[in-house]
Amino acid sequence: MENTQFRLAARPVGLPKDSDWQMTKEPVRELADGEVLVKTRYLSLDPAMRGWMNDAKSYIRPVGIGEVMRAGGLGEVVASRSPRFAVGDQLGGGFGVQQYWIGAADDRHAGLHKIDTRLAPPTTWLNTLGMPGMTAYFGLLEVGQPKAGETVVVSGAAGAVGQTVGQLAKQLGCRVIGIAGGKEKCDFVVDELGFDACIDYKGGDVRAGLKEHCPNGVDVYFDNVGGDILDLVLTRINLKARIVVCGAISQYNNTTAVKGPANYLSLLVNRARMEGMVVFDYADRYHVAVAALGKWLQEGKIKSREDVVQGIEKFPQALTMLFEGKNFGKLVLQVA
Ligand SMILES: NC(=O)c1ccc[n+]([C@@H]2O[C@H](COP(=O)([O-])OP(=O)(O)OC[C@H]3O[C@@H](n4cnc5c(N)ncnc54)[C@H](OP(=O)(O)O)[C@@H]3O)[C@@H](O)[C@H]2O)c1
Repeated sequence: MENTQFRLAARPVGLPKDSDWQMTKEPVRELADGEVLVKTRYLSLDPAMRGWMNDAKSYIRPVGIGEVMRAGGLGEVVASRSPRFAVGDQLGGGFGVQQYWIGAADDRHAGLHKIDTRLAPPTTWLNTLGMPGMTAYFGLLEVGQPKAGETVVVSGAAGAVGQTVGQLAKQLGCRVIGIAGGKEKCDFVVDELGFDACIDYKGGDVRAGLKEHCPNGVDVYFDNVGGDILDLVLTRINLKARIVVCGAISQYNNTTAVKGPANYLSLLVNRARMEGMVVFDYADRYHVAVAALGKWLQEGKIKSREDVVQGIEKFPQALTMLFEGKNFGKLVLQVA
């Protein structure tokens, strides 16, 4: 059996290029005691992957040159020499960008865990019930701490994290304003996901949109993009507002320094706070979020939208979709 893999060939400058990757093929080796062989079915493509390609200190070590690219995914156990998992089990884990993952069933870094595909389709396990959903749940509830009646603004609103943040805030009785690129995405978050309004930052004026749709100011801003949009929202925040620093995708491919918020004194004036969050800190409570989000999904109260690209060979081009806004919903690569 042959395993197709994508390895990091060079540290990218700006947007990753095809030449930053090397596609390799190697035979799948025999299993040792305690190991399992997982056939990858779906891989999660995440903006964070761009950060993992940099040789810089972060919350996780960078991917080394020549290493298989790190990626979370879903797969099926096709051979097992471990009592933990049987052939046919559907697993989530850190399988990397490759067709087969082989390793110890209790590998701490891979974090293999069974998923129940009767509760939700596999791609939903990479979205609302996966890492983006966990980010939305804990980022909004624990860091944003919204209360019914408050105004919540979320950028990247049609994306993986943003779609769940907004729907969750609606469930809590908040007024929810999304910010997204393009009319189609904005229509989707309002008409399909039930946001109160959405500001098209590509086709409209964000400052005017915030003024129009947040007449009582902004209590919680869930920031997925950073840059100019963060700066504009800062001018509209209320006393004791909470800004969740989830991500800053507008800055990830910068070849110059990250642009920080010029309007940060608004935090002082409004006795407000900005707080970063990393989803992995909540790993021991993911089951709580999965139970809550799974129930709302089953009741039809929230929706999960994924954008599936077929074929592992499309990995380099698919990853760049995130930075060009070409994904519509959670970006997933179907491997098998
Ligand atoms: N802190 C954590 O633990 C954690 C965990 C997961 C994700 N995150 C962060 O959350 C954010 C969203 O991630 P996701 O997985 O949900 O991705 P996503 O929103 O599904 O996809 C990325 C989206 O970002 C938008 N975008 C791209 N370039 C932009 C720019 N220059 N300005 C404004 N928007 C831009 C695009 O949407 P438009 O078409 O609307 O522009 C694109 O579709 C990222 O910053 C990511 O790093 C953080």
